[in-house]
Amino acid sequence: MMRVGVLVSGGGTNLQAIIDAIKAGKITNASLEVVISNKKDAYALTRARENNIPAESICIKDYDTREQFYDVLLERLDTYHLDLIVLAGFLVVLPPQLIRKYRNRIINIHPSLIPSFCGEGFYGLRVHEKVLERGVKVTGATVHFVDEGTDTGPIIYQKAVEVIAGDTPEILQKRVMEQAEWKILPQAINDIANGKIKLG
Ligand code: GRF
Repeated sequence: MMRVGVLVSGGGTNLQAIIDAIKAGKITNASLEVVISNKKDAYALTRARENNIPAESICIKDYDTREQFYDVLLERLDTYHLDLIVLAGFLVVLPPQLIRKYRNRIINIHPSLIPSFCGEGFYGLRVHEKVLERGVKVTGATVHFVDEGTDTGPIIYQKAVEVIAGDTPEILQKRVMEQAEWKILPQAINDIANGKIKLG
């Protein structure tokens, strides 16, 4: 069994997609060991608790320095002896020591077709706003391994989604989630859990 930890900051619909995929047998050989949020009121934590998954919050503002926050985050993650860390809408930049320690064992879901609309400042609704501003006709989502850069790690899966005339950032975000994110993230986890994808 691959031990998986999920880091979140918000609603947790991607977390829900993972939970549902495990229940449906679409992800095998993997168990959700912990969900950690940097926001105490993240609905993702409720989703975790409803499914009997240990849920914790670690908030930057509770610590004097960002370093202390990172130390606690690393320490808490280490407690669970994780084989894979999934960033599912986690809006905190990971410290290099965490990336080094879990090299090739951290994946992220990004709501665009990397290398378009990614990197610093491209997160959440902003990504979809920029997509609409530029007028591209196709967008999508990407699952990738995490390295020291922002959205620069090796790509695992991508799925294209059509941009439709009249889309608002919110409408487009929902379509990208439904048609791409909620599919390719569970798929990547299943493939890693079953040895079909491996790095390093
Ligand atoms: C998703 O769009 C994800 O791609 C991005 O943040 C959002 C998180 O949504 N990184 P949710 O918390 O999984 O509902």
